[in-house]
Amino acid sequence: MQERLLELKEEALAKVEAAANLKELNDIRVAYLGKKGPITEVLRGMGKLSAEERPKMGALVNEVREQITEKLTAKQELLEKEEVERKLASETIDVTLPGRPVNVGGPHPLTKVIEEIEDLFLGMGYSIAEGPEVEKDYYNFEALNLPKDHPARDMQDSFYITEDILLRTQTSPVQARTMEKHEGKGPVKIICPGKVYRRDNDDATHSHQFTQIEGLVVDENIRMSDLKGTLNTFAKKMFGDDREIRLRPSFFPFTEPSVEMDISCFKCGGDGCNVCKKTGWIEILGAGMVHPNVLEMSGFDSKKYTGFAFGMGPERIAMLKYGIDDIRHLYTNDNRFIKQFNRA
Ligand code: DAH
Repeated sequence: MQERLLELKEEALAKVEAAANLKELNDIRVAYLGKKGPITEVLRGMGKLSAEERPKMGALVNEVREQITEKLTAKQELLEKEEVERKLASETIDVTLPGRPVNVGGPHPLTKVIEEIEDLFLGMGYSIAEGPEVEKDYYNFEALNLPKDHPARDMQDSFYITEDILLRTQTSPVQARTMEKHEGKGPVKIICPGKVYRRDNDDATHSHQFTQIEGLVVDENIRMSDLKGTLNTFAKKMFGDDREIRLRPSFFPFTEPSVEMDISCFKCGGDGCNVCKKTGWIEILGAGMVHPNVLEMSGFDSKKYTGFAFGMGPERIAMLKYGIDDIRHLYTNDNRFIKQFNRA
């Protein structure tokens, strides 16, 4: 029995010594010292020994167990230390490596222009209105004095979803929606920035999706001179104090009379250059006095109320202002392009 014990001890100690990791070590612990292990078995056989031999054998068993446990603990500490060292070595951070550059974005030129225009009109007492981009044919066309089959509908090739629903081709439907909500009682003084959609082939100056800013003022005694004064203030604040404006007769179904506003060229001051195509003038927006039909359809008494409206394209303004030669630059979001406007 004694021999068997010493044999087991040598065997266990050798295995502990050879253990390569903590899992193996634990398996050895269970195998030799566990309840079903050989040493426990030896203990069980002690009943057969004489009273004299029993304590001696008991002491020896304890000694063997202690030695194995001691060795196990020492080996465990060693393996744990090795593990920590291995981890430290593999996770070492080289603090001397140069950092990765952080790519800081900047405001998009189109957003900048839209916000500038918003600020300007908010300062003149306007509020900002919004409307849906998926719009009813009624608001996009009919309520703006463009009945079905009206030839002027061809001016704006549309994306129809059903016969009565389309992606809005202009922000003008927000005029009708806002007036309708007012239930025939003025005053209305809004601008409406937003996305619009047209069936155009994309090129340097066209995009199937772009933005517009609509303006609408309705009250008693609103006159063409109010429109002119407003546009003049806008042009000077946006493009510089020495800008002149010029109104040319035009046609929009929802305004009568209708005009287009040009500003004197901010590059050459009117002498003629590549920006104004040698004319001295740059076309900026469409406007006019709200057509009585439009007022009536949205519930306003056109004998009591009058109004003016205007609509402009922020892309065109951004392109003019920053000298951008291709509208697609505004949509591809190349950071090298956008970054140029960080401090502009
Ligand atoms: N909605 C017009 C367009 O997309 C722009 C416009 C012109 C809006 C004159 C107006 C306006 O409100 O009075 O071409």
